[in-house]
Amino acid sequence: MAPTAIVSSPLALVSLEDCLHGRRSRRDFCRETVGEDDLHRLCWAGQGVTDTEGLRTAPSAGGVHPLELYVVASSGIFHYDAPSDVLEAVLRGDRRPALCTAALSQDVVGLAAATIVIVAVQGRMDLRYGARARRYELIEAGHVAQNMLLAATAMGLCAAPVGALDDLATRDVLELPDEYLPLYLVAVGRSTPSH
Ligand SMILES: Cc1cc2nc3c(=O)[nH]c(=O)nc-3n(C[C@H](O)[C@H](O)[C@H](O)COP(=O)(O)O)c2cc1C
Repeated sequence: MAPTAIVSSPLALVSLEDCLHGRRSRRDFCRETVGEDDLHRLCWAGQGVTDTEGLRTAPSAGGVHPLELYVVASSGIFHYDAPSDVLEAVLRGDRRPALCTAALSQDVVGLAAATIVIVAVQGRMDLRYGARARRYELIEAGHVAQNMLLAATAMGLCAAPVGALDDLATRDVLELPDEYLPLYLVAVGRSTPSH
């Protein structure tokens, strides 16, 4: 699972310091889409496998990895399968308006080309961490989101984290089972057309 998406990109020439400096929650999206390759690259930044033991770009308590990423884009909903580094289509149709409603009708989600939903699969952490499992899921969501926000900055995209959402309504948009709990969103787009 080589991190080819990022290292093969000229954007790898953007320094980490510049990304840290340049990261801003940006909501001034234009109508231009963000391609599947770029969405895949963002997911890799959040949860890509970078090690033969299955460890990832973001740290995880005990290496348990309780989180999953879903991308809500104009063409449908995709799941990022971290072990295979594949962005797989799971639902057809533009569910962005429904996601916007679930995110308390915030324009940032309504105008985004795509929104990445960070979901905790409850139960994965519980056996090992008991009552601390919920806390660890939230901490890890922050790590994953920050990785994606910095990658978006490196890629010249606009992005903003969104924590104000109706968890259960968001789960319904994604048609996920009860143990899957949406925690945090990263809305992504472009501020000006790229051509
Ligand atoms: C936990 C958390 C939840 C947030 N939720 C939202 C949100 O629901 N909607 C939104 O537009 N921005 C949201 N933000 C982005 C903040 O508004 C933003 O980080 C803040 O204004 C500081 O700006 P900066 O990110 O450019 O440094 C959230 C940020 C964090 C860390």
